Amino acid sequence: MPAPLPHDEVVPVIDFGAQTSQLIVRRLRDEGVFSVLLAHDTPAEQIAAMKPKGIVLSGGPSSVYEDGAPTCDPKILELGVPVLGICYGMQWACQALGATVNPANHREYGRASLSIQQPGTLLHAVPNDTTVWMSHGDQISDLKAANLKPLASTPTCPYAVVVSTDQDHPFVGVQFHPEVTHTPHGVDILRNFLFGICKCDGGWRMAEFADHAIDAVRNQVGDAHVVCGLSGGVDSSVAAALLHKAVGDQLTCVFVDTGMLRKNESLLVERTFRDHFKIDLRVANAETEFLADLEGIDDPQEKRKRIGHRFIEVFKQHAADIPNATFLAQGTLYPDVIESGHSLAGKAAGIKLHHNVGGLPEQLGFELVEPLRDLFKDEVRRLGEVLGVPDQIVWRHPFPGPGLAVRVLGDITKPKLDLLRECDEILLEEIVAAELYRRTSQVFAVLLPVRSVGVMGDGRTYESVVAIRAVETQDFMTADWARIPYDVLARISNRIINEVRGVNRVVYDISSKPPATIEWE
Ligand code: XMP
Repeated sequence: MPAPLPHDEVVPVIDFGAQTSQLIVRRLRDEGVFSVLLAHDTPAEQIAAMKPKGIVLSGGPSSVYEDGAPTCDPKILELGVPVLGICYGMQWACQALGATVNPANHREYGRASLSIQQPGTLLHAVPNDTTVWMSHGDQISDLKAANLKPLASTPTCPYAVVVSTDQDHPFVGVQFHPEVTHTPHGVDILRNFLFGICKCDGGWRMAEFADHAIDAVRNQVGDAHVVCGLSGGVDSSVAAALLHKAVGDQLTCVFVDTGMLRKNESLLVERTFRDHFKIDLRVANAETEFLADLEGIDDPQEKRKRIGHRFIEVFKQHAADIPNATFLAQGTLYPDVIESGHSLAGKAAGIKLHHNVGGLPEQLGFELVEPLRDLFKDEVRRLGEVLGVPDQIVWRHPFPGPGLAVRVLGDITKPKLDLLRECDEILLEEIVAAELYRRTSQVFAVLLPVRSVGVMGDGRTYESVVAIRAVETQDFMTADWARIPYDVLARISNRIINEVRGVNRVVYDISSKPPATIEWE
């Protein structure tokens, strides 16, 4: 049974498997219209029950005439609700309405110029010859049989935008991708669909979402007690702030200090949640246990496994001390929900492991509260701002669950962790001072398992090497190394070598992902 939608005005996106399906959802939400991704085989009755103001059909990699090509319930075209088909979605709908789809004589990938014959509502105020982003090998023909007429074309695609002439089938289709930034007027076209054609109000705002989510948590939890595992990262912090607004003293947060954290991390969490939000916060100091588990271990996956097991043990012990704890709160986000196949979209199962508390709810008999499960990361940040979570937390770079254990390469000791903490602190200070923190996605130091020769004063040194990693990325699946200015790199290197005893060399990682990963282990 899917959770109730957080708004009464919804425009779902039916997913035919395009890489940009999630992006369409985000674009609609950015316009103040709530959207969700639905599996292509979602029955029309289920969609009708959402009372959608409109429906968008995504693109996809298949050809509509192939055996096994994804389809959707044709009854969605008869709900009397406007439908926008994008690329494959357009071709599927046109075929369902009676047009023919064939391989195109000229496949079209990349930028094309759109010549508008008749703007209609969809292309209102879109300039003629605007650039659109194409990615298709098939094309539509025989529009008349389907009661469709063209609004615009490109030099090789006569039906780049089509509209239904039949009032009972309010359909518009675009062969290009309005959701990508390479289509400069794409957002205007989506707006025309939402506000001109679907008559949406666009009232979905983060403050309203916060109120809705707070009510939903209250309804779910009643007067039971909730435990929330805080990591200091954005997601668990925003979840904790929201839960606290919803249930106040019925919330207890548990923060596990693994000894693998950055300098002052524990302090920041205590200040924010205990002092500022007045949340009942239990800090589990388990550095000794974690270090003992990791002694002599240099295999990255083994490190992760041991940290994961110990984390669950420590968390369980602390949760067991909280009377009447029935619920466990998690900062699960919408992309995780989609990926793990639990969403309405129900795509391929279980890609992502929840690194920190995986398996905990079952082991402890907890029920889950996931107040962020409808949100994307940037929306979580906006929600954090609405809830008054300090900027320092809202805009934090991600930090992996195993923490510095995967940034001290090879075996782990406390002196190595302490050394890395000093380097990391200097690095982040300089990145913030150069106003690069918000312009980078993740920046950190890595302690390499090699020593190198240097010279300091009159003496020869033989000391550690530290690597600096700074990346820019949208989704952390691919990433490019950040072009940090040389003078900033010079300051970082100078300070680390001068201020951190035991380091005589700093190197900068210039690998992109793929083929490298963001972390070194
Ligand atoms: P990679 O290194 O795979 O990292 O390019 C992608 C993103 O995931 C983070 N990461 C982890 N996060 N537990 C986590 O919670 C882990 O074991 C883990 N390994 C990588 C990494 O910091 C980056 O943001």
